[in-house]
Amino acid sequence: MDWTTKLFRSLLLALAGNRAAEALALKYGLRLGADKFVAGETRAEALRTVKQLNANGLLATIDHLGEGIRHLSEAEAFRDEYLALLEDISQEEAKANVSLKPTQMGLALDPEAGYRNIREIVDKARALGNFVRLDMEDSRYTDATLQVARRLHAEGMGNVGVVIQAYLYRSEYDIRRLSSEKGNVRLVKGAYKEPKDKAYPKMSEVDIQFKRLIKRRLLSGLYTGIATHDEPIIEWTKRFVEVHQVPLHTFEFQMLYGIRMKLQEELAAEGYTVRCYVPYGRLWFPYFVRRLAERPANVAFLLKSLRKK
Ligand code: FDA
Repeated sequence: MDWTTKLFRSLLLALAGNRAAEALALKYGLRLGADKFVAGETRAEALRTVKQLNANGLLATIDHLGEGIRHLSEAEAFRDEYLALLEDISQEEAKANVSLKPTQMGLALDPEAGYRNIREIVDKARALGNFVRLDMEDSRYTDATLQVARRLHAEGMGNVGVVIQAYLYRSEYDIRRLSSEKGNVRLVKGAYKEPKDKAYPKMSEVDIQFKRLIKRRLLSGLYTGIATHDEPIIEWTKRFVEVHQVPLHTFEFQMLYGIRMKLQEELAAEGYTVRCYVPYGRLWFPYFVRRLAERPANVAFLLKSLRKK
């Protein structure tokens, strides 16, 4: 990545946490171009999208957007939305689980309250035969998030899994530890702005660690979500699976809604399990800006779509 792209990426990631920019963007609503990546503002819109994806052979994981909350009452409202979402998934027989951000449940404000909110959701999911993925946020919350999952597993709730980010130096250690605990893991490259003492600064190094983690998980036989749109890495994974005769039911590919949709459907048609990450909600701004930061060409797309409006 050249220095201008790096600088641009850093500026966008800083913008993701900026309240004034968020307030301004929300005025324009999803018309700003975010509707390419966000299924809508309501649960009903998200479920409509999921049913369409299901009809095209894709599974889904649904994320109710919201992060950086200031009061526990907000966390409780988010928790209640997830409880209702799980009910609706079940009622509509949608092929979807849920993904949530631990800080949205209050983990940063009051770890014990955050834990209780997450536990309630995981408990409800268990009763409905569903699964909860704890998304991984920036490295301030890695330990606390892994701790929540560990505690829930110890309490007999196996229907919860975490995300491991290949850009963090610590991830190989975390994967080894999770493998001995038999956790269900989603592997990603990592989407946040991290300091050099925590994360590999070079994309090439992230890719090497990502492949190392994929290999380790696939050989362990423990269920793994390989979440990437990187076609060379997807092709490499397919070859690895073939050579090592990894059973197809032990992993799935995961991609984000709005990105590489054709590839998602092609992989599903080839017989791989593919899960599409479907976000919805009013608080779409930080999620949207992270998607812009991942690919500067998305900003050109955004500017073009704004000119048309
Ligand atoms: P890379 O960034 O190298 O992209 C490969 C190619 O994919 C690009 O060349 C481009 O063509 C396409 N592409 C990638 N991003 C795009 C975009 N935004 N718009 C258009 N095209 C794009 N991160 C995290 O820190 N915590 C988490 O919990 C999660 N959860 C998660 C779930 C799922 C299902 C996915 C797919 C991703 C995440 N991520 C995440 C995000 C992840 O860390 C990473 O930032 C993105 O997936 C982009 O990295 P890629 O692996 O796609 O590779």
